[in-house]
Amino acid sequence: MIVLGLETSCDETSAALVENGQRILSNIVSSQADLHAKYGGVIPEVASRKHVELILPTIQEALSSASIGWQEIGAIAVTNRPGLLGALLVGVSTAKAIALVHSLPVIAVHHHEGHLYSALLTAPQLSDQFPLLVLIVSGGHTMLVKMNDHGDYSLIGRTMDDAAGEAFDKGARLMDLPYPGGPSIGRLSLKGDMKAIHFPRSYMGKTFNFSFSGVKTALRMHLKREPDSSSVEDLAASYQEAIVAMLVNTTQRALEETGCRTLCVVGGVAANTRLRQRMGEMTAETGVELVIPDTKLCTDNGAMIAAAGYYRLMHSGSNPLSFDTFAMQNLEEV
Ligand code: KG4
Ligand code: ZN
Repeated sequence: MIVLGLETSCDETSAALVENGQRILSNIVSSQADLHAKYGGVIPEVASRKHVELILPTIQEALSSASIGWQEIGAIAVTNRPGLLGALLVGVSTAKAIALVHSLPVIAVHHHEGHLYSALLTAPQLSDQFPLLVLIVSGGHTMLVKMNDHGDYSLIGRTMDDAAGEAFDKGARLMDLPYPGGPSIGRLSLKGDMKAIHFPRSYMGKTFNFSFSGVKTALRMHLKREPDSSSVEDLAASYQEAIVAMLVNTTQRALEETGCRTLCVVGGVAANTRLRQRMGEMTAETGVELVIPDTKLCTDNGAMIAAAGYYRLMHSGSNPLSFDTFAMQNLEEV
């Protein structure tokens, strides 16, 4: 079955076609990053208006680049939570309208469940190799999730303050680097010395929770105290190293505690080269299998929503057209 996946929860308008939850036929992502860059962050109302402009051409491109017609599509999956309400509404109302016109079932997908399925799109054999430990690192969320089965998730740890992506974005703003901050810091870090400045690492005792506000404050204080003492490349590399170390060390402890033999790292920050490298080293030492999707599947995209929607449809059916959108909802409650 071919599922059309729609994603409009933040600043990416995306439409994708995925067959049987595993084979990507097309995955079109229209990013609004340039539009929001001049404000240094996402302006919700601006994002919603842009989604309205982009959603139909993006769907059209997903269909035409895969040479697929409406009669070949079996269902529509759409992100309905969590996210910016106005932005979510664009995807959800479009999905409902198409469902009515073409008499298709529609599945409401939790955005984080979509990120989990970006790992299964990358390594389909995982879909019967549970449990998996998944680190979701995005702009709004950082969490460790034990995926026990399709639709069965346990939250192992989460951030107590900023998300990892937020730490990158806010840190970049302090260093006067362009939005989104993660890619800017990642690029500069390649030319910097990660040992130049030792930024503090915060660990939350025996829990698997994270905290990134301390490292951000340490960067702010460093820039205030010694504004010209380090090159921006060294600052970026040292700051990135502190965030990566916290993610890798806590994830390693969670692997030991849960006994999971497969680790997946998903979400926008999983595109970070240094994080990918350090996770690779850590899992190689411990003999754990590591799955990190291609960078295009790490950041928000419709393919992961289509894949999550397909499995949800197979296991629990579609949603009545009256389903709502929600700014927040825990993944464990899906
Ligand atoms: O998953 P995502 O596309 O959107 C959300 O659901 O939030 O993640 C976006 C986040 C942003 O904070 C961005 O700075 C970060 O992912 N990001 C990166 C990289 N590429 C994107 N962070 C570090 N290094 C990167 N290469
Ligand atoms: Zn996301």
